Amino acid sequence: MTEITLLPHDGKDDYTDQIAPGSYLRTLSPTGFVVRLPKDSKPASVRSLGHLLSHKERKYFTSDVQVEAPNVAESLAQEFIGGLKLGSYSAGQRKGDYEIHPLENGRFQYIGETEKNLILSDVQNRVRALVDAPANKKRAQDLAAWATESGKAYGYDVKVLDKAACEKEGLHALLAVNRGSEDPAVLIVMEYCGGAQDETTAIIGKGVTFDTGGVSIKGSQNLHLMKSDMGGAAATFGALEAAARLKLPVNLVGIVPATDNSVDALSIKPSDVIESHAGKTIEIIDTDAEGRLIMADGLSYAVKYFSPTTLIDVATLTGSAVRTFGYVCAATLSKNEELVEQFRAAGEACGERVWPLPPWDDFAKGLESDVADVKNFSGNPLHGATDAFKFLENFTHDHERYIHFDIAGVALKQGPYAKDRQATGYGVRLFVEWLSRQAANKS
Ligand code: BES
Ligand code: ZN
Ligand code: ZN
Repeated sequence: MTEITLLPHDGKDDYTDQIAPGSYLRTLSPTGFVVRLPKDSKPASVRSLGHLLSHKERKYFTSDVQVEAPNVAESLAQEFIGGLKLGSYSAGQRKGDYEIHPLENGRFQYIGETEKNLILSDVQNRVRALVDAPANKKRAQDLAAWATESGKAYGYDVKVLDKAACEKEGLHALLAVNRGSEDPAVLIVMEYCGGAQDETTAIIGKGVTFDTGGVSIKGSQNLHLMKSDMGGAAATFGALEAAARLKLPVNLVGIVPATDNSVDALSIKPSDVIESHAGKTIEIIDTDAEGRLIMADGLSYAVKYFSPTTLIDVATLTGSAVRTFGYVCAATLSKNEELVEQFRAAGEACGERVWPLPPWDDFAKGLESDVADVKNFSGNPLHGATDAFKFLENFTHDHERYIHFDIAGVALKQGPYAKDRQATGYGVRLFVEWLSRQAANKS
C-alpha cells in the first residue's frame, strides 16, 4: 500500500525534496509520501504534480494507493489522483526492459468519487499510446480496429468504410491522399447516443498515420515525429470513448478519415485537380497540405449524414499553429464567437488551452484557383493556420456552428517524462469539459 497525504500550502518553502518548482514533497517511508500543494493550486497544475510524482518515483509505488487529503478540496484531490494515473504511462511497450507501472492497473482508495478523473486519464493514456506508436504499427486499418474494439468494450457504434466504400461514397479527397500508399484508406464513423435531446455534436479528427509530405516531400529533420499526425484522430477517439465510459448525456459523432501520406509513382502531384465529397474541385499546390484534403471529406460526410448541431474538427494541421502559439495552446478558428468563448473557457478550466485566430474572409482570397473551385495552399508562407481554416470552410456546407482546432503544437510535448517529445492526449479533456458544460446548461 502506498500512502499519500496531500496537504494544502502552508506558507513555507523550505522543503528539501522539490519535485517541481514551487511544489514540495517529502518522502516519509519507502511507500509513503507527503505532498504539499503549491500556493494557488489550479486543477491542471495539481494534476501535473500527480503526473510527475508517479512518473519520477515509480519505484516507491505499489498498485494500491491510499490518498488522504485533509483540508484540500475534494476536486483537487481527484485531479491529483488523475495525475498519478497519467504518470503510469510510458511509450516504451516495445522495449526489452519494459515494465508495467504499478498504477497502470492501480486501485485508488480515497473517500469520494474519483471515477471521472481516473477514466479521463485512462482514456488519455490509451490514446497517447496510439499517438506514440510507430507508423508501421498504426496503419489506417489499425486505427479502425482500435475504434471498433473501444466501441465494443464501452458500448458505442463504430462503422468502418473501407476503400471500396469510400469510393462509392465519393470521398475523393481522402482517396487522393491515399493514392501513394500501400495501405487502403478508411473512414471511421463512431456514434455515441447518450442524450435524449435532438442535439448532436460531430467531431472530425485528422488520421494521417504518417506524413512524409508526399511529392512535396518534407525534410528529414524530426520527420519521425510525423507519426503523430493522427493526433486529431486520437482526440476524437478519446472524446467518444470518454463520453461513453462517463455516460455523458449527449449525442456525439466521431469521424476519422485515415491514411498515410506517402511518396510513390501514383501519388498526387502539384497541379493535379481532384474532386471532393462536397462536390467542389481542388487544385493541389502542395501535397504536404494533405490534412485539409482528408478533413474536407470528413466534414462534408458528417454534415450530410448527421446534420450535427455543432461541427468540430481537430487536426495537427499546420506548422504555422506551432510557430504562432508554440506548445502552449491550440489555435482555434470559428465565425461563431459564442462557440469560441465556450471552448476558451472550457480549455482554461481543464488545462487544455485554446486561443482564437481571426476567421475573416480577407484570408480566403489567396486560395482562389484559376483551374478549380479552390486550391489547397496559397503559396504564401503567411497566416498558414488561418488559410487552412478558410480552405476547410468550403466543405462544411455553410454550417453555422463550425469550429476548428489546430493542435499541431500541443499533440506532443517535450517534458520530464520522456527523452523525446511525447504524446499528451490533448483534446480528450477539452471536449469532455465542453460537452459536460453543454449538458449541464440543457438540464
Ligand atoms: N502535418 C503537417 C503539420 C504539422 C507540422 C504538424 C508540424 C505538426 C508539426 C501538415 O500536414 C503540413 O505539412 N502542413 C504544411 C502545410 C503547407 C504545405 C501549406 C505546413 O504547415 O507547413
Ligand atoms: Zn503535410
Ligand atoms: Zn499532415
